[in-house]
Formats: sequence, C-alpha cells, structure tokens
Amino acid sequence: MRTLIKNILSATEPQERVTVKGWVRTRRDAKGFSFLELNDGSCLANLQVVVDATAPGAELLPQLTTGASAAVEGQLVASPAAGQKWELRAARVELVGVADATYPLQKKGHTAEFLRTIAHLRPRSNLYGAMFRVRSRLAFAVHEFFQQRDFVYVHTPIITGSDCEGAGEMFRVTALKGNIDEKPQADFFGKPTYLTVSGQLEGEAFACALSNIYTFGPTFRAENSNTARHAAEFWMIEPEMAFCDLAGDMELGEAFVQAMARYALEHCAEDLALFGKFVDKGLHERLKFVVERPFVRVPYTEAVELLKKSRRKFEFPVDYGLNLQSEHERFLTEEHFKSPTTVFNYPREIKPFYMRLNDDGKTVTAMDVLVPGIGEVIGGAQREERLDQLLANMEFHKLKPEDYWWYVDLRKYGSVPHAGFGLGFERLLMFLTGVANIRDVIPFARTPGSAEF
Ligand code: 4AD
Ligand code: MG
Repeated sequence: MRTLIKNILSATEPQERVTVKGWVRTRRDAKGFSFLELNDGSCLANLQVVVDATAPGAELLPQLTTGASAAVEGQLVASPAAGQKWELRAARVELVGVADATYPLQKKGHTAEFLRTIAHLRPRSNLYGAMFRVRSRLAFAVHEFFQQRDFVYVHTPIITGSDCEGAGEMFRVTALKGNIDEKPQADFFGKPTYLTVSGQLEGEAFACALSNIYTFGPTFRAENSNTARHAAEFWMIEPEMAFCDLAGDMELGEAFVQAMARYALEHCAEDLALFGKFVDKGLHERLKFVVERPFVRVPYTEAVELLKKSRRKFEFPVDYGLNLQSEHERFLTEEHFKSPTTVFNYPREIKPFYMRLNDDGKTVTAMDVLVPGIGEVIGGAQREERLDQLLANMEFHKLKPEDYWWYVDLRKYGSVPHAGFGLGFERLLMFLTGVANIRDVIPFARTPGSAEF
C-alpha cells in the first residue's frame, strides 16, 4: 500500500513500515549512504529518504537521478536534520523509471517562458505543482460556494448557434470540407455553429425555472489579443439569479471574490506561501485586504471623470462612450481607490444587447468587478426582462430576433427580473497567486499561434 507524501509528513508518530512512490528531485551521496529528495505532487514539500549503501536496491542509486521515478519502502523516523520533522530510512529501493541527463527540469531556476515549452513536465516543478493544486482546490471551492447557497449547477452546451456577447469572436465548428460558407445548411447541425463564448443565454433559461443556477465550464474566444490575461480557451463561472437586480448581482459577485480569497488563505496555505515568497511579496496582505474590506462601487460616468482628472498619460483615450481598457481599470483599482472596485451603469453602445436599459435611456445595468494586478475579473449585468425593450435592444445592436427566438420567448412566458455575471477562473487564479501571465495558471494554454500539447 502506497502512502502519499502529504500524509506521511503530517504523521504524528514514527511508522515501522511505509511505502512511498514519486519522482526524484535530487540525490546527494555521502560516504556509505545517499539522500534522495522525493516528491509525489501531493504537497509542496519533498520527503527526505536515506538509503544505506547496503540496502536492497541501493546498487541502482546511480540511476536514481533528478526526474527518475522510484518506490521506497522503509521506516519513518524523526529527522535529526533541521527543517523537516520526518525522514524515511529505506529498507528497499526500487527504480521505477529512469530519467537521463536530457531531463529538462534539472535543479536550477528556469524562466516561465522556457517552462511553457515543456508544459508536459512543468507540473513537476514546485511552482507549477503548487499552481495546479491551488487550481483544483479552488474549483472545489467554487462548487461549494454555490451549492451552499442552493444554486443548481447547469451544464450549458459547448457547441452553440448564437453569439452571446455579439462580438463575433467565435470559433466555427464544422464538419464541412472546402468552402464552409457555401452551403451552411448542409453542415452537421444544419446551420453554422460555434464554440460557446458564454453559457449565459442558456443559463438564463434555467434560472427562469430553477431560480438560482451557475455554470462552470470551458469557454472559447477567437479574439486575437496576445495579452497576459486573454486565452482562447478558458474556464468561466456564470451564476444567474431570478428575481434579482443589479444591486443583488454586485453583492454576489463581490461576496464570491472575497470567499475565494478566504478559501485560498485557509485551505492552500503551504502553496500560497510559495507564491508569496517567490512571485508576489505583497500577496498575503492583498488577499487579507480583499477579504476584510467592502469593495468600492463607482458608476461608469464617474469613473471616466476620475480617469480624465488623473492627468495620467494613458495609451488609449478616455472618454464617455469608450470602453475602459486594462490600463484604465488597473489605475482605478490599484492607484485611485487602492481596493477592488465595482464599476456599474455603462453606456449601452459598448455593452451587449441583453443588458437592461436604465431609465436615463443611455446606460445599461452592467457591472464589472476590477481587482488589483488584473483589472476585470467579473463582467455581469441585470438582464433586460421586458419583451418590447429587449426587441428594441436587438434592433439597436442590429441583431435578428429570429436568431434568438427561444431567448425572446423567456420574456413572453412568466418573465422576471434577473441578473448574473461571468467570472474568468484563470483571472481569479492569477489574482489569488500573483502569477502575472494567464499561460501559467492553465495546464495547457491555448493562445494565438499556440496549441501545442
Ligand atoms: O465580460 P465577459 O465577456 O462577460 C460575459 O461573457 C457574460 N456573458 C457573463 C455573464 O454575465 N454571464 O466575460 C466574463 C469574464 C471576464 O470578466 C473575464 O474574467 C473572463 O470572463 N474572460 C476571459 N478570461 C480569459 N481569457 C479571455 N479571453 C477572457 N474573456 C473573458
Ligand atoms: Mg467584460
């Protein structure tokens, strides 16, 4: 029976016989015995294994080099060395798989850029092992957050015929060969289809039946922006609430970000400490700040005024009616308010058709949550629930109601005020770890020009 190193290291007393299996991080040879640092990915720390030169299997020690896999059976004893509580005295060592000198993760510092080229091996490094354990725990935390609040998990489709965001940044899904636009009705689904950019529209249908729902799934965008915070394939969490307005939406979004920060601090302490030490010294302070303080809320119009008054030289122009760029968002949250910030009530021109028109006739009930280091982590809105106004919004955005017939139906049959948002899971992980590039928080990144692995 194999025991995970994580459980071995948390033992409260010595063990006569345990078996561990993992990968050699380093080997040091002394006179008559060797030290192996073994890691099995169950936690950040390695287990120190002491192998006597006379132990069965010790003759294979020269091949137990960095990267090789091994199984060790032995006695767990209190370690005389500083910095670790336990070490394993090997009774028997087995070489499971060799790794020769070409193993690219030899013990030395590597750049993030280099490690991306070996994405199949980088989870064996401390930093990426920590990242993907945090990612797993946070995925669980997402479900726990919504399940505890009686939200129903809905699996919205990945192949879709409608462009939720209306931005046309979709990947085409086709079984046709040659000119795919010639006879789209001859295609597999009888019409043009795409990879989803958002499960929201389908999520609304389910919220208007089950009251509170959420989605959590892969999302695709063919935007050709080669930035540190855009991926072509990412994971989005989209709650949707019936009988809810913009204020309720902002409350849930802010509570969600706070709960994720709290969860990370409480349940990922060892891994987070690594990020706090090597990636972002201010990480813990920032996360605690987020957990403890209310977010700042500011209407878009006021945010634009603040940006204009800042006299800051921005690369992109600032004016009412223009989108806030990442540099503007980051100025607001990092420098002006020095706090997570929720911007709401955006001009209707720059937001999708489904958002509810405010009484001023100019703005819609949109909200974006901005956090330091990232900018936008959440985008959401109260939805237009009035049939006539939804049709007017579609005309305004030059969309055909026939293409959204079932979505329009929701406004014909028992329509209710409702609201929701989308949170990019990778952006959340960047925020929680301080890792600055989206390519380093997703196991195998898909970005323009890159779909290796
Ligand atoms: O602001 P977005 O485009 O909103 C929607 O898609 C709505 N339909 C959500 C809703 O109301 N249900 O995207 C939501 C979030 C962004 O705030 C961002 O965190 C993330 O998704 N996101 C991306 N993350 C990584 N790479 C990309 N290319 C992303 N595009 C959006
Ligand atoms: Mg957005």
